[in-house]
Amino acid sequence: MSNVATADFVNHKYQGFSLAPSAQSPRLLELRFDEQTVKAFLAATAEWPIQALEYKSFLRFRVAKLLNDLCGQALQSLLINTLVDRNTGGLLITPEGLDQVEQAEDMVKFTTAVAHLMGRSNFDAMSGQYYARFVVKNEDNSDSYLRQAHRVMELHNDGTFVEQDTDYVLMLKIDEQNMDGGNSLLLHLDDWEHLEHFYANPMARRVMRWAAPPSKNTQKDVYHAVFDTDVNGLPIMSYIDQFVQPKDYDEGVWLADLSEALETSEQRLSVPVPPGSFLLINNHFWLHGRDKFTAHAGLRRELMRQRGYFTHAKTVREPNQG
Ligand SMILES: [Fe+2]
Repeated sequence: MSNVATADFVNHKYQGFSLAPSAQSPRLLELRFDEQTVKAFLAATAEWPIQALEYKSFLRFRVAKLLNDLCGQALQSLLINTLVDRNTGGLLITPEGLDQVEQAEDMVKFTTAVAHLMGRSNFDAMSGQYYARFVVKNEDNSDSYLRQAHRVMELHNDGTFVEQDTDYVLMLKIDEQNMDGGNSLLLHLDDWEHLEHFYANPMARRVMRWAAPPSKNTQKDVYHAVFDTDVNGLPIMSYIDQFVQPKDYDEGVWLADLSEALETSEQRLSVPVPPGSFLLINNHFWLHGRDKFTAHAGLRRELMRQRGYFTHAKTVREPNQG
């Protein structure tokens, strides 16, 4: 496990929410909004259904401001600082009392407010909105592992095959029925046993081709290396096993080794995310995936994701490095 000292601002009760280390790792912080705060937020934003936030981008920032106001202004800087802090960069967030599937639109609204205090969520080509809701069922015939229940979705970064900056990933659990297994899997790069080995290889900086299947609604291939370096000289990653297209034997063999070294890492965290809760992670130094779950005819799981770029934080990559 990592030896991350718990910072002063953790284990603290703030106005409207509390912050503590998660059970899984001191790098992953657990932020809980009081039920009273959640109710006050929903009352203050009742005039804007989710469609209003879809149509008018600036309203996403308005609801963000209202949430920050309800938290005595402390929330915004805490989110910004946590997301860019290399030692943490990850949050498991729970708005108390917002956990029923009937409240799905309110859940999306709440996550939108949190995301837009530190960033702006990108257009999601899969849904045509700034967020995407999708259902996982027992049967599936899609063209990627996103909706497939009975196997692991391997550790990866998001945004690897699009030309959008993807600094953060937000993953909300809206609903879960007849689920056994399926925890979120997370790996912080600095905890990974094999980081030095792979980062030191010249292949780490080889520009490779990335292409997605038709459901992703992306037309163009993109080109970048698996590893990059952040403004402090530390390794960051942009990698997903299903969409990287090795051009030759050397690239293919190295990528297969890399995949194995990620999937067998002892440092992977297995995080249960209950309905209504969401993960918010820095996409450059946290990899994410999903554990397999057991077949069940009545299995249903609904998720929502938002990916976007930081609007307040200093850039994590040097300019013009892809
Ligand atoms: Fe992902």
